[in-house]
Amino acid sequence: MEKVLSGIRSTGQLHLGNYFGAVRNFVQLQHEKECYFFIANLHALTTHTDPQLLQKSVKDVLVEYIACGLNPDLSAIYIQSDVPEITELYTLLNMLAYKGELEKTASFKEKIKKHQENINAGLLTYPVLMAADILIHRAHKVPVGKDQEQHLEMARNFAVRFNHRYGTDFFPEPYAYNFTGKLVKVPGLDGNGKMGKSEGEGNAIYLRDSDQLITKKIRKAKTDSGPQHENSKKPEEIKNIFSLMELVSTPDTIQYFDETWNNCSIRYGDLKKQLATDMIQFISPIREKIVDLDSDENTLKKIAQQGAEKARISAKATLDGVKDLMGLKSIWK
Ligand code: TYM
Repeated sequence: MEKVLSGIRSTGQLHLGNYFGAVRNFVQLQHEKECYFFIANLHALTTHTDPQLLQKSVKDVLVEYIACGLNPDLSAIYIQSDVPEITELYTLLNMLAYKGELEKTASFKEKIKKHQENINAGLLTYPVLMAADILIHRAHKVPVGKDQEQHLEMARNFAVRFNHRYGTDFFPEPYAYNFTGKLVKVPGLDGNGKMGKSEGEGNAIYLRDSDQLITKKIRKAKTDSGPQHENSKKPEEIKNIFSLMELVSTPDTIQYFDETWNNCSIRYGDLKKQLATDMIQFISPIREKIVDLDSDENTLKKIAQQGAEKARISAKATLDGVKDLMGLKSIWK
């Protein structure tokens, strides 16, 4: 059976980009494939060093996974650092990763600009750890947003390089996946770029946001002075609002506002009000589940333990195979 793996860094709470780029796919795939979903707390360490905040974020993401519909009886749901086989495979894969290709990675270049005071080796080898996450279960499909495409290409390269070097077909080639057939990039509310945890205040809508906060953020979303002539092209910030609408509103609603844009009768106040209403309708049931789960320590602990146990069985089988192929099995047999 095909295997599916994906993870989210514990660097804060989940937003709509995480949901539509990743989690929505997890929930669907768990009914069809052998699935592994984890919380990337080791990756978080490359940029987030406060131990208490890290622990809180791990718990928040776990709660949010379950509230979104991940089912621990269908998927292995675990915390990255609870599966030490991953870091062992990471060490081994580092022998196949070249300094030049790591330095060229777009996310590394971006991060060293942002974190000039802490350009650590973990940032450089971030894609190797990510490849270890994927290859440890010999996963085929990796549901992620568009921003992770390059990392997936690197994971594929490491898998192919390993197979070639050791004359094997041990690792399948993993591919980025979205069930719509197209990787998504959910835009932010500030008019340019993607929705992200580390973008400015008000750029992201979080699954934990209250109805009032959602309304306020959408009211403040960037717009322009309106269409100047019929059937004109939408500028970036207006396209973004329509893109968000496509995630949560009905086709009729979108068609209505499209027509008002095209005939220049659009009122941004109405557009935003409608988007806020539909967004709240989408998010509030998830938020209610989050609130219920937040204090349920016992359930959360059980889920993480059960997930780690399941994941370690698959991880150990892969690691044993890799060590055999690389010449690391015991020589004393
Ligand atoms: P992270 O934690 O930044 O994001 C988690 C997931 O959310 C997606 N995403 C988005 N999708 C669409 N639009 C957006 N605006 C948006 N923002 C975030 C990301 O594409 C991702 O799927 N390196 C990964 C974590 C990771 C991982 C892995 C993923 C570590 N190991 C192994 C897959 C497989 C990351 O930083 O994602």
